[in-house]
Amino acid sequence: MFQTFANLYGVHPFYMCIESDSNTHGILLLNSNAQDITLSPNPSLTFRTIGGILDFYVFLGPTPENVVQQYTEAIGRPHFPSYWSLGFQLSRYGYGSLDVVKKTVDRMRQYGIPYDVQYGDIDYMERRLDFTYDKENYAGLPEYIQQLKKDGMHYVIILDPFLSKDEAPGTYRSYELGQEMGIWVNNSDGVTPAVGKVWPPGDSVFPDYTNPRTADWWIQMCVEFKTVLDYDGLWIDMNEPANFGTGQYPGCALNDLNYPPYVPRITDYSLAQKTLCPDSKTYLGDHYNTHSLFGWSQTPPTFTAVQKATGKRAFVLSRSTFVGSGKYAGHWLGDNFSRWKDMHMSIIGMLEFNLFGIPYIGADICGFLLDTTYELCLRWMQLGSFYPFSRNHNGEGQTEQDPAVFGAEFAEISRSTLLIRYTLLPYLYTLFFDSHVHGNTVVRGLMHEFTSDHQTHGIDTAFLWGPAFMITPVLQEGARSVEVYFPEASWFDYYTGDEVPASWHRKYVSVDAPLDKIPLFLRGGYILPTQAPATTTTRSRLNPFGLIIALDERGEASGSLFWDDGDSIDSIEKEVYFLAKYTFSEGQMRTNIVKNGYRGVDSLIYNTVQVLGVTSRPNAIVLNGNVIHGKDLQYQENGVRVVLTNYENDFS
Ligand code: NOJ
Repeated sequence: MFQTFANLYGVHPFYMCIESDSNTHGILLLNSNAQDITLSPNPSLTFRTIGGILDFYVFLGPTPENVVQQYTEAIGRPHFPSYWSLGFQLSRYGYGSLDVVKKTVDRMRQYGIPYDVQYGDIDYMERRLDFTYDKENYAGLPEYIQQLKKDGMHYVIILDPFLSKDEAPGTYRSYELGQEMGIWVNNSDGVTPAVGKVWPPGDSVFPDYTNPRTADWWIQMCVEFKTVLDYDGLWIDMNEPANFGTGQYPGCALNDLNYPPYVPRITDYSLAQKTLCPDSKTYLGDHYNTHSLFGWSQTPPTFTAVQKATGKRAFVLSRSTFVGSGKYAGHWLGDNFSRWKDMHMSIIGMLEFNLFGIPYIGADICGFLLDTTYELCLRWMQLGSFYPFSRNHNGEGQTEQDPAVFGAEFAEISRSTLLIRYTLLPYLYTLFFDSHVHGNTVVRGLMHEFTSDHQTHGIDTAFLWGPAFMITPVLQEGARSVEVYFPEASWFDYYTGDEVPASWHRKYVSVDAPLDKIPLFLRGGYILPTQAPATTTTRSRLNPFGLIIALDERGEASGSLFWDDGDSIDSIEKEVYFLAKYTFSEGQMRTNIVKNGYRGVDSLIYNTVQVLGVTSRPNAIVLNGNVIHGKDLQYQENGVRVVLTNYENDFS
């Protein structure tokens, strides 16, 4: 994705600009044609598009979060992900057999590494044909999926958007039905299907998802396939659409659509490079105009298919995205390399996709292409533990890189970092609820929260979960410390609860980061809901909750918790959820239950409350009207941290 002057997987002609007075605006050019955007230091910005209409939308902010809220109000709010999909996920292209998958799963368990989702990449398929599975190398896959589910895990499969046309007649129903329904992208004659070469043996045709009939066909195929493989979500890949050649057979004719007078600076200056000819015909019009809508148009029917097939909240992960895709899908940043700079770039990609209304985002942890190294992969596991979409995925033929393969030390470090993620999942889930309802980002750059502090504007080495949790990963080989910028606020070390000295504010400070640690900081003024972690979210969801109350300099803090069953389709619309707002001031925390519609919350307790930033030893703390004192109140020697244990109170 991050090659200079290369085609991208998706198109988001949207920018956000912080003006010199800190007012922020956003601009969308709603246009799906090939285009380039040039920045100059004037400052100025030039949009060049080779078609469509100049449909500009202006979002006035004035804060960065306001801009994203307004933008997602216009294009569609991000979908609300299932709780399990916030767990850690493992994938690779080329396990080669179910035995290898099982061995991987077993060693993950042996080390107790939190892990919710296992993937099947195209090697689960028979000869890489959609809607099949390999009955030799993956014999027993349906039963194994059931086993994973019994263990509280989930299974996601990949589907590609091309169908082989060269299987023996009568043997490949999904192709034959599609053929009968006339749903393929056509050549310029508008009648004969465009034929290209992709993964399956033989040649392939490409479903035209802009055609409503294609959506019907796809939904039917996906729903039927659920009875073969009991998947929990769909990963839709190669949907730019990718094709191995330049255009379909026999190549692109010489005409203005295929060779327009201006071509943005893409690979080979060819619009057909690794895709179909621009003069191909889709239901919505020439591929010249609809190319960038291919993945976008595949996403809603896939979302519907998963909902129908599973009866649960849909999980769809799409490689190609366009304006509005976040309503139906999450995204991973595509084929990166196992290189330090790619790890760094993943932070930028993650921040961008949060602006684009696709907060369910992450990169392939440890890198996809090239072999990873111990240290790179370890640091990447630490960073990736805080991607909203946290998946280690590997390319075909690369050495194994799951967090259990490098031995006990690596496994333990990954485990402990992921346990922090799982501890904070109620906070992350609540951020996704806010994002779905109000359009906020989930992960954001420091400039969103400290907009008038110009030093935050260029920071792409650190990021925040919502307003309150700062992640400052190690991004350099051999480094054992990180230069962390602390904007003006109270900050607490996540591990020790120690407050960052005021003398560090508005400065870069070197913070220790031995190999087993990713520096993490809590921001004063916020209350984060937590839950005792476990090796799956299925189990952690049964554990007691906790609260981290990080006080600001006035001794105040606030926050919220959203909770529901984690995977129902309509829990928000049907109001089957629990929402609490917490406020802490003058030594008192108050809970305002805004919505009490989820009975599952009745059996839950919270038993750990940490209050950070208390300036003098309290005799007692009042929580929801209960006075806590004595041995339940541990006041720590550093003089700033109060830990309450064994405090149980139901939420209702
Ligand atoms: C390309 C995708 O980007 C990658 O993640 C996947 O492993 C391969 N296709 C094989 O399906």
